[in-house]
Amino acid sequence: MSLGVTIAGTGSYLPEKILTNDDLSKFVDTSDEWIVTRTGIKERRIAAEGESTSHLGSKAAEKALEQSGITADELELIIVATITPDTLTPATACYVQQQLGAHKAVAFDISAACSGFLYAMKLAKRLIESGAFSNALIIGAEKLSAFVNWKDRTTCVLFGDGAGAAVLRASKEGEGRILATDIGTDGKQAHLLNIPGGGSACPITIDNADEGLATLAMLGKEVFKHAVIRMKNSANTVIERAGLQTEDISLVIPHQANLRIIDAIARRLDVPNDRVFVNLHKYGNTSAAAIAIALDEAHREGKIKRGDNIVMVAFGAGLTWAAAAIEW
Ligand code: ACO
Repeated sequence: MSLGVTIAGTGSYLPEKILTNDDLSKFVDTSDEWIVTRTGIKERRIAAEGESTSHLGSKAAEKALEQSGITADELELIIVATITPDTLTPATACYVQQQLGAHKAVAFDISAACSGFLYAMKLAKRLIESGAFSNALIIGAEKLSAFVNWKDRTTCVLFGDGAGAAVLRASKEGEGRILATDIGTDGKQAHLLNIPGGGSACPITIDNADEGLATLAMLGKEVFKHAVIRMKNSANTVIERAGLQTEDISLVIPHQANLRIIDAIARRLDVPNDRVFVNLHKYGNTSAAAIAIALDEAHREGKIKRGDNIVMVAFGAGLTWAAAAIEW
């Protein structure tokens, strides 16, 4: 009988450069007070010049591989979740494969914005359960600083760069496993949050190059409303599928977009704040990387122990949402 799929290792990587709210207020009309009150974000990381999404992802992956005991050479599958790929083609996962020296691995990207890491988790779990692959490296990596309009105060204060990774393999006797997953999409709301230019619908040309079309555009208030409802429902779905009660959950790791959204979800799930992991004050919203980074930090800080039940829940452009319940 299959024992399911376990997380054998986690890793994360944050670029060194810190951009504080005060730094931002020097070139855009904002303030530390506004950003902290409205979002909870105090600072974010910015990738160095020449450091692309694949570099961030590979560094996080190296740490996850080291912890997992699986070598790059043994890897069979690499999935990178990102909305800020190194290039439109090939996939960022191909660069990661090369950087890690994981020559045997099949590598591809998925684009599901902030939900991407949990989309990748569901996909990898199913592929391992089916017997198609015996292990998988899943990565959430973003260099959002390259796709933010630094003149638009309504978006540029929210985002940051970083990467997180996890190595998945079949669970052995006595090990934890992924108990339940949920993913969903509502394409009718695609207009709420997008990067309108740079794709086939709106190529960047000499005529529109100054319009900032290849940067993130968002109707923040609308996104906020959908985020709370979708994340609450998705979290409840995996809690129920896993046969858990709220009191069985030792840690909720929500997408790190806005402290007000996180508080609203914790209230609706009836989970006390000390069982909700928050690191967005340090990194802002790192989209697909956010849950992956938070999982690794919580794990390495000893906030997740063998036998604990944890729930991760995300929401992002698409609109997309996703959740996973895990017995560690
Ligand atoms: N500094 C100062 N003032 C600002 C700033 C800023 N950085 N940004 C906006 N303001 C002003 C606005 O212009 C507005 O001024 P006005 O009242 O004179 O018109 C006022 O502040 C209020 O703006 P709102 O947009 O109403 O502020 P709100 O409380 O809704 O907060 C925010 C905005 C933080 C974006 C919030 O709506 C939010 O977090 N939304 C969800 C975003 C999200 O979760 N995204 C997740 C997905 S990301 C992904 O998938 C890549």
